[in-house]
Amino acid sequence: MSKDDRAACASRTHVEVRKKGTKLSERRPTSHERMAGQSWDASYHDGPAPWDIGSPQPAVVRLASAGGFAGAVLDAGCGTGENALHVASLGLSVLGVDVAETALAIARKKADDRGIEVEFAAADAFELKRLGRSFETVLDCGLFHTFDADERPRYVASLAPVMEHDGTLYVLCFSDGGPETGPHPVSQEDLRAAFSHSNGWDIAAIVPDRLQTRFHDVGAPAWLATIKRS
Ligand SMILES: C[S@@+](CC[C@H](N)C(=O)[O-])C[C@H]1O[C@@H](n2cnc3c(N)ncnc32)[C@H](O)[C@@H]1O
Repeated sequence: MSKDDRAACASRTHVEVRKKGTKLSERRPTSHERMAGQSWDASYHDGPAPWDIGSPQPAVVRLASAGGFAGAVLDAGCGTGENALHVASLGLSVLGVDVAETALAIARKKADDRGIEVEFAAADAFELKRLGRSFETVLDCGLFHTFDADERPRYVASLAPVMEHDGTLYVLCFSDGGPETGPHPVSQEDLRAAFSHSNGWDIAAIVPDRLQTRFHDVGAPAWLATIKRS
């Protein structure tokens, strides 16, 4: 899509988002929304979205059992909250943020139904500083891989100020390894370019994993990246 097409598309389909503690303000649709032709919120209107498996991702459960989450935790692009709810159920303080109000409403209802203390707020991952908070652990499960090459640096720059020094970011994303990759394959090089030492990040590990979806029997090939904020 050319720059002009992107601009025309953006002006046609501005999406409203509620930023925590502020009035509704406008945000530009992301590349994924422009490609899909609908807002993120709309993907939650007619039953579970393809990635909404109704339970936490096994990779996240494993990380949590291994003590991978500490301090205040942010789940960026939390969707209907299964991962945030799982981590919060272990007694951690968790904030899940998303631009999809419908997903957040579902997440809040799950928290009420299950009696789990967790916070869900509408916020744009490109504007995380507006949260006015910082986190020792940040989880990105399926968000990074929805951003295109123009958006990734903005997202990474938004993450930086909300992460505590020596904090840990986990990115679970579709990988480019294997025949059945997801719709947004990410290479190890993409991750290393986005989270570089010169930008204040240190990649501790990138290991192959699986990302479960409603349409893959055994999940899609994924990377689980563990990234430290230096
Ligand atoms: C592929 S889904 C993953 C949802 C959830 N993490 C999960 O594992 O089920 C990506 C999520 O990121 C959210 N999202 C996309 N762009 C966002 C942005 N700029 N700020 C905050 N959330 C965003 C979408 O609304 C969607 O819920």
